[in-house]
Parts: sequence; C-alpha cells; structure tokens
Amino acid sequence: MSDPLQQWRDALQDLGVAGLVPESGAIFSEVPPPAPQPVPPAPAPATRSLMNSPVPKAGSIPSQESVSAAQSLDDLRTCTQDCQACPLGAGRIKFVFGEGSPTAQMMFIGEGPGRDEDLQGRPFVGRAGELLDKMIGAIGFTRQDVYIANIVKCRPPDNRTPTPEESRKCLPYVRRQIELVRPGVIVTLGATPLRELLGVQTGITRIRGRWHQLDMLGGIPVMPTFHPAYVLRQYTQDVRRAVWEDLKAARAWLDQHPK
Ligand code: URA
Repeated sequence: MSDPLQQWRDALQDLGVAGLVPESGAIFSEVPPPAPQPVPPAPAPATRSLMNSPVPKAGSIPSQESVSAAQSLDDLRTCTQDCQACPLGAGRIKFVFGEGSPTAQMMFIGEGPGRDEDLQGRPFVGRAGELLDKMIGAIGFTRQDVYIANIVKCRPPDNRTPTPEESRKCLPYVRRQIELVRPGVIVTLGATPLRELLGVQTGITRIRGRWHQLDMLGGIPVMPTFHPAYVLRQYTQDVRRAVWEDLKAARAWLDQHPK
C-alpha cells in the first residue's frame, strides 16, 4: 500500500483537483492525511437462490414502534434485516443496512445498493464506492470515521431508482440511523436522498453545493453533491471540482462546529 501522502495525492488526482490545492494537503492542515487502514475481509459471496421474478419470502415488516425503540445501530439492524415491507425485499441477496462509525460526525447517504453491495451486504463497495472512499480520504477521513447509508436497503432491479413507495417504506430506517449516529453534517449523494429525506425535487445539478437543513435533532446541515456513479460517468474537471468544493464545505462546517 502506498504511503498516506501518496494516497492523498491520488485522491486529489481522482477528484481532478491536483495542483489546485497544496501538495502537502495543508488545506486541512489540522487534519493529517488518512493513515492506511486494514481492509475488512470481504464476506463470502452469496448466491442468488431466487429466479428473476422475486417470489415473496416469509419475512417481517418491522413496526414503527420497534424501529423507534432501537437503541443502537445493532438493535436497528436486527429489527430491520428481514424486512419484506416492499417488493425489493424478495429480490435481494443481502440487506445492506449501512456501516461506519456509530458516532460519526459526517454521514453520507446514497440511493440504494447496486450489484456489488447486494452481494456483499455493504454499502458503496463497487466502483462508485471506490471513488467515494477517495472522496472521503480527500477531506481527511477514512471510511471508518464516517457513516455510510442508503435510502433503500435492498437493491432495486437493474439498479433503477427506487420508487417513492419503496423509499417511503425504508425511510424510517435511515431516519432512525440518523437519530442514532447524530452526525454533525450529512452529505447526500445524488438527487434521490435529497428528494426522499427533504422533499427537494430540484435537479441535482442546480441544487448541489447549496446548504439545506434536515428537520431532525434540532436541524442537521445537509450538503447535496453529485453521486459518485454520476462523477464516474461525467468524468469532467467541472464535475469533479464541484464535488471537491461540496466536500470541502462540509468538512469546513464540521471543523467550525465540532460535536
Ligand atoms: N450507489 C448507491 O447509491 N449506494 C450504494 O451503496 C452503491 C451505489
């Protein structure tokens, strides 16, 4: 594994901002570049036992009371992981609950698991996840420092956008995750989490980089930015620089408002 400074340079290179910030990473001089972290062993891949058309499985529909009563992320995972509240439950390989520090200052919220996430049961582990890791590294955090979740916990077929009904069923879970983690700032990735959490319908290109507030826990600042999968598709200097600006703003907010 390369040294931390090299990782920092690589992250800036990927975000297309190398040369725009001091090589030493001094933009966050109080935050050292991330130290290499041990990579958790990947769980053995599961095989899909269902055919293409999902067959309803015996499962549960967690009650709102049990979700609200969960006192830890582990409790919440236990209470929700067999969920069959919407049709996505029948098609999943793994329930992708979310992961990271239970006391994270920064929380990232994406849309829903893709193929790799469905196989591994972990959020953002595919190509978009690799870029997200670099984005996190570029602002001086590691994946273990932040918390990463999605609006829906089960993979939508063909990676389509979750329907409003699917999102509505899953929303209490992500809201309880937010209540338990109590992040100082939330970064939403793409249009879906902003729409589902805050009801904002404006296109992400117009709305990214503009602070919002989530009406929970007395108001949590929300910074919308592009989804890493979009960045990979639109790998232009402008898009990458925009993401960098959004992440810098979120990091700066935390530095000015420590928990
Ligand atoms: N895209 C998402 O929105 N979430 C993931 O976990 C992976 C890809």
